Amino acid sequence: MLELTKTLVETWGPPGYEHRIRNRIHEEVAALADETWVDGLGNLICRVGGGEKKVLIAAHMDEIGLMANYQEPESGYLRFTSLGGLRHDTLNGNRVQFEDGTVGVIAVQEGGGKALSDFYIDVQEDGNGNATPVGQPAAFMREMQVRGERIVAKSLDDRIGCVVAIEVMRRLKRETPHELYFAFTVQEEVGLRGAKTAAQGVRPDIGIAIDVTGSGDQIRGSKMQVKLGGGAAIKVHDPGLVVPIAIKNWMIERCEADGIPYQLELLTGGRTDASVIQLTDSGVPSGCISIPTRYLHTTSETVDIGDVQACIDLLSGLLTNPIELQQAH
Ligand code: CO
Ligand code: ZN
Repeated sequence: MLELTKTLVETWGPPGYEHRIRNRIHEEVAALADETWVDGLGNLICRVGGGEKKVLIAAHMDEIGLMANYQEPESGYLRFTSLGGLRHDTLNGNRVQFEDGTVGVIAVQEGGGKALSDFYIDVQEDGNGNATPVGQPAAFMREMQVRGERIVAKSLDDRIGCVVAIEVMRRLKRETPHELYFAFTVQEEVGLRGAKTAAQGVRPDIGIAIDVTGSGDQIRGSKMQVKLGGGAAIKVHDPGLVVPIAIKNWMIERCEADGIPYQLELLTGGRTDASVIQLTDSGVPSGCISIPTRYLHTTSETVDIGDVQACIDLLSGLLTNPIELQQAH
């Protein structure tokens, strides 16, 4: 699991430019699916089985990044726009990489730091004869580190969700009573775009997003029940999704039956692919299994290995047992 995680978090793939990470994931999953294809927006979709219920499992493969949009004529410094939710307080001094390998250092002009226009990228010493990166996207650079039970890395949002999905596919060995569609979605960080076409293409009976969530165990952090090491987080609510009672209970009962550690997730800021999947056709009951994460959208996102394992156990339990959702009362 750790080796796969390292490979995925360190593979380049900002929103709209997921070709490298998609190829990498395809290598992992090709033998684990009955059929794979890429839809018109770029989502990689993998069908496993052909039985009872159609379940769409979505994990987004894009990572936050930026795009150079102007080069200062004198200095050659690059101005840039965001591809996803950049945190201004973590930009200064960070390194980014363009697709051709050009490395840039993000700097902030004196007295600035509030607006994105206060920052610039220094690539002037590159010297490799690479073209001016205006119009080119870049992703952050940072190696993954494991400290005890914790993984520290960039882009665990949502490559760790991709890891959970792939590990479950490995465990299933193409055996399931259901018809599963594992979707590695594009452009989540710029507005949940990939999940929309993935769900329209698949037209599932049930949707499950696998994504990261925040944690309430940081200094002066937001008031949130979720903590690292507390198990798989079963989403109850976020600003884009009120999880149907039947879906929530389906997940809780699975955890209780299999002895999987879990916690309930109530997130006050942020949405996932599940919030667009639920709006497909005449409505798709959808939920989300979340991996508790500290320092979201920084280059040192931090998760607990036991929590990731619990998410893998929960998802594989859900997909290998008969699904009977209780009626809403
Ligand atoms: Co994100
Ligand atoms: Zn995410």
